[in-house]
Amino acid sequence: MFKAAIVGATGIVGQQFILALQRHPWFNITALAASQRSAHRTYGEALRDPASGALRWYAGPLPDRAIFDMVVEDAETLDATRFDVIFTGVESDVAKVLEPQYAKSCPVLSTASAFRYEDDVPLLIPGVNDDHARLIAHQRQQRGWKGFIAPNPNCTTVGLAISLAPLAKAFGVETVVMTSLQAVSGAGRQGGVLSLDIMDNVIPYIPKEEDKVRREVCKILGQATPDGVRPLPARISATCTRVPVMDGHTASVLAVTTRPAEVAAAREAMERFGQEFVALALPSSPQHFIVVHDDPYHPQPRLDRDTEDGMATVVGRLRRDTAFDQGLQYVVLSHNTKMGAAKGTVLAAEMLAHKGYIS
Ligand SMILES: NC(=O)c1ccc[n+]([C@@H]2O[C@H](COP(=O)([O-])OP(=O)(O)OC[C@H]3O[C@@H](n4cnc5c(N)ncnc54)[C@H](OP(=O)(O)O)[C@@H]3O)[C@@H](O)[C@H]2O)c1
Repeated sequence: MFKAAIVGATGIVGQQFILALQRHPWFNITALAASQRSAHRTYGEALRDPASGALRWYAGPLPDRAIFDMVVEDAETLDATRFDVIFTGVESDVAKVLEPQYAKSCPVLSTASAFRYEDDVPLLIPGVNDDHARLIAHQRQQRGWKGFIAPNPNCTTVGLAISLAPLAKAFGVETVVMTSLQAVSGAGRQGGVLSLDIMDNVIPYIPKEEDKVRREVCKILGQATPDGVRPLPARISATCTRVPVMDGHTASVLAVTTRPAEVAAAREAMERFGQEFVALALPSSPQHFIVVHDDPYHPQPRLDRDTEDGMATVVGRLRRDTAFDQGLQYVVLSHNTKMGAAKGTVLAAEMLAHKGYIS
């Protein structure tokens, strides 16, 4: 078993990491860490709101009893040499300081954006761009680290990039126009969204999100070279909105392909996508990477986000666009705290362990 630590364990992503890792066949949770506010208290005490007494657990089913009894460590002084892998779920400014500290001796799988755009850092979606992992050797050499940092993409990017990957491979993609409808859990617990702002409402702007989507999709679908990634030369236009949905980011997508793509061929490419990866039978892998619906009332977050325990990307309304000759339109749904964050990051760790980067 690999010894794993979860940093940011009290947050939304940290809680999802606990669910994804407890009873995992390869990774054993050996430490939980968070800020000084939570450190030196049991996990159960750290989650308890001091004013109301409420247990701030947001991730669905409660974890095993033993988790509540673990003593939370101070992330700033955590000794990374004790672990084989560290999973981090902290805000970017915190990640910027902590992750390089840990990566000197230990692989760090991160959900923060702090290092996503560095040339020597792969932006991995397992099953989509596993070959980008080769950048890890370059990163280690450049920075003199025994470990490395491998971040996952922004949760909105994940479903979009997965759905575009088969189209880019089969037909080429030159222009993408997307509008997201993002769940409130994507805003985290500390940044958060006030219920008074979001109920009965749509918020038409999420700071920095659209730029992240543009840059990340091109990096993920780009070509890995020995010392960086040549981004996909596609034009991406994004509008990111927040809607009163608990979990599951939906996006309406227009993709203009380089070569003509019949709807049936696009559908087949999506459904076939990821078969080799699925055949690896990694513990957190979905059985089907992309599930395509014919029923025009799918995907819906409430009905479809938990498809294959939130690890499948769900596509519906795949159709010819009426404005662009080589345009395809569809709606895509991805679980933002599962494939889009913690469990997707655990799947990336499984892929990296399978390839020998975690040992
Ligand atoms: N939510 C999503 O769907 C999602 C999806 C993909 C990626 N992400 C990214 O994942 C990261 C975490 O998001 P989240 O939604 O889980 O945030 P969150 O709910 O606000 O949790 C933040 C965590 O960071 C800890 N923390 C705060 N300041 C710290 C410090 N100075 N040192 C160490 N730990 C500190 C907090 O511990 P205390 O409880 O002790 O304060 C808490 O455990 C962010 O970078 C976010 O952008 C989120």
